[in-house]
Amino acid sequence: MKIAVMVSGGGTNLQAIIDGINSGLITNTEICLVYSNNPKAYALERARLAGIPYVAKSPKEFENRQDFNKALLQILKDADPDLIVLAGCLVVIPSDVVKEFEGRIINIHPSLIPSFCGTGYYGLKVHEKVLERGVRVSGATVHFVDEGTDTGPIILQKPVMIRQDDTPEVLQKRIMEQAEWKILPMAIDLIANGRVSVRDNKVFIEGYEEENIF
Ligand code: GRF
Repeated sequence: MKIAVMVSGGGTNLQAIIDGINSGLITNTEICLVYSNNPKAYALERARLAGIPYVAKSPKEFENRQDFNKALLQILKDADPDLIVLAGCLVVIPSDVVKEFEGRIINIHPSLIPSFCGTGYYGLKVHEKVLERGVRVSGATVHFVDEGTDTGPIILQKPVMIRQDDTPEVLQKRIMEQAEWKILPMAIDLIANGRVSVRDNKVFIEGYEEENIF
C-alpha cells in the first residue's frame, strides 16, 4: 500500500510511521510522498533523512485558495497514494481532495473524539481545553476524514490518564508517546492488510476483539 503523509510541524507521528515500517510493525506499506504546507516543518527533514520524496507547497505561494487547492489535488493525484495520512496537518483539506480520495484519508487527533475536537481544536489548544475542563481521561483518535472536521468514522482510540500536575505540554507529550505513536501505525497496518471496513459510518476491524487490539 502506497501512503502519502501530510504534515505541518515536527513530524513525530511521521517518524512513528517511518520507524514502524522499518521495524516491520507496519507491513505492506511504503511512504510515496510527504507533503507539508510549511516549508520549515522539521517533518520534511525527517523525510529527507529517510530518503522519502517530499514536497512543500504553501497556500501563501498562490493568488488565492482555489489555486492552492487545485495544486494540492494535483500533487496528490500525481503521487497516486492508496491512502492519505494526515499527521499533524494544519491545512484545511479541500473538499475536492476529500472527494477524490473518499474513504482513503485518515487523521490522528489528540483527544477522544467527539470530545475536544472540531474547528479550533488542534495542537496544544486541545490539551489546554482538556485541563481547563478537568476531565480525568483524554487520549488520541485515528479516524477516517469526511467533509466535516474530525467527524469521520472512528478507527482506533487509546485512553491516557490525566495527572493532576499535568501542564498542556506534559500532557501533549504523554498522549503522543502513549497513544498517537501507537494507534496511527497500528491503523495503517490494519488498513494495509485489508482488515478495516466501514458499514453505516461505523468501522469494523477483523480480529479486533480476538487480538484485543485496544
Ligand atoms: C500531534 O499532536 C497530532 O495529534 C496533531 O498535531 C500534532 C502533530 O505532531 N494533529 P507531529 O507533527 O506529528 O509531531
